[in-house]
Amino acid sequence: MTEARTQALHRLRSLAARPGAQRITSLFAADPERARTFTLAAEGITLDYAKTTIDAEVRAALLAYAGASGVEPFLARFFAGEAVNVSEDRGAMHMALRAPAAAGYRVAVGSRIEDASAMAAAERARMEAFVRAVHAGEKRAADGGPLRAILHIGIGGSDLGPRLAVEALTHLEGPVLPVHFLANVDGHAFPPAVRGLDPRSTLVLVVSKSFTTAETALNAEAARAWLVAGAGEAAVAAQMAALSANLKATSAFGIPTEHVFGFGDWVGGRFSLWSPVGLSIALAAGWDRFAAMLAGAAAMDAHVRATPLAGNLAATLALADFWHATILGCATRCLLPYDERLRLLAAWMQQGEMESNGKGVLLDGSPVPTSTAPVIFGTAGTDAQHSFMQMVHQGTGIVPVTFLLAAREDHDRPAAHRMLAANAFAQAEALMRGRSLAEVRAAMAAAGASPATIDRVAPHRVFPGERPSLTLLYPRLDPATIGRLLALFEHEIAIEGALWGIDSFDQWGVELGKELARAILPELAPGGAPGAHDGSTAALIARFRALREP
Ligand code: F6P
Repeated sequence: MTEARTQALHRLRSLAARPGAQRITSLFAADPERARTFTLAAEGITLDYAKTTIDAEVRAALLAYAGASGVEPFLARFFAGEAVNVSEDRGAMHMALRAPAAAGYRVAVGSRIEDASAMAAAERARMEAFVRAVHAGEKRAADGGPLRAILHIGIGGSDLGPRLAVEALTHLEGPVLPVHFLANVDGHAFPPAVRGLDPRSTLVLVVSKSFTTAETALNAEAARAWLVAGAGEAAVAAQMAALSANLKATSAFGIPTEHVFGFGDWVGGRFSLWSPVGLSIALAAGWDRFAAMLAGAAAMDAHVRATPLAGNLAATLALADFWHATILGCATRCLLPYDERLRLLAAWMQQGEMESNGKGVLLDGSPVPTSTAPVIFGTAGTDAQHSFMQMVHQGTGIVPVTFLLAAREDHDRPAAHRMLAANAFAQAEALMRGRSLAEVRAAMAAAGASPATIDRVAPHRVFPGERPSLTLLYPRLDPATIGRLLALFEHEIAIEGALWGIDSFDQWGVELGKELARAILPELAPGGAPGAHDGSTAALIARFRALREP
């Protein structure tokens, strides 16, 4: 850590330690303009971060910390395609996937420079032609009949983004073609994934950047067997497609090249929904909606790239998260879209944030001197209110919440939307305002409770309040807005990585478990010899084998 960064961190910590610094309500009392001062609007999205402990001094100190951490030079290198993924020596250029070919994005892959925009545009044109041909009935199943459904097989980034986007984009009208997702290697996941599908009219997409992911490989084999059993050998060539960056492996699997859509190693799995990995999104939602989502994301890229940090939506989200996670020590963070269509947002963001920023070393390999990514959780409001929000309101830890809300509904029940919105605003207000013991006692007395009951029950009904939240508000959740929001979160993740000084684009933490699973697998086969393990693992494996014996 440089001296400037250490000092900027020290300044933030001393601001957090000021007496009364955690009283959000006092900030409103002291500054009647606070809601305006701590609201940003860009790209049709309003971000209110007034309900946090960030005041003018904290904001200035956060921006100073961003300056000392080199966030702006990082963004310049990131958008220039430089090797910001230092441990894998390559750029992270998912922005090229949603930009027009003329954007001219280039990216470093080791010592090579690739024309990311040209590659992305060429594959996008092939995808479009494929999607339109399927929808027009020109691309047909092995028996000459139409393709009526999609089985999407992939895990992690090859699952979560497409799953979220398919749901968000097709929620109202239903999909043009239904998509069934299969991610988990658990054999119990396969039957429900193919339930209701006819192998004679199903297009199977094998989605894997590496095409070496064991779970996806096993599920792809099962799907191939299911296709062959139901539609004959010819169905493999006619009805399977692969979306991958490993074209050697896709051809070894037997998928013809015209059904293979590729992308570069410079697309991280968790940032890949814009790439051919999103083919099922376009097949489900239609090409035009997919393209509108890409255009929205590209507009957000332009905002993040061109806007100084103080007015930059992604930087503001990142700085607020840094303030909460690293300076105030909040170990968790809650993402609450008040929108059923974004029900899977937190699951997608869990991988985005925690796989990207759940790191313990700086770029130079030395230990990170601060905490890094918080645990992300969330679901759709109002469901959350009836499950975990109890803890967020009255639990002992502070959980910053990000609310998302569209002003206008896309259904014909305005009363339901007003009730939804009232709940979103009320949750944020309740978190901040709280309810004091005196207020509870007065309310109970007014309701006729006896003094003994008040003494006994009132403490349980107190809300501490002063709990932070941010709100993202936008006119409508149209395809472009979905693209803008997802790109906004992706950029938030990248900027946080720069604030923490870590590599947000590798994921070595997933490797050891994979390696050990490969070693254990043969031990579980009938007659498999036991391997060398710690006592607990060895005993569990032995017990597992004994319990499986007939
Ligand atoms: O194991 C983690 C991971 O590599 C993720 O980063 C990725 O999204 C997922 O597995 C799936 O990888 P692939 O697309 O290569 O099958």
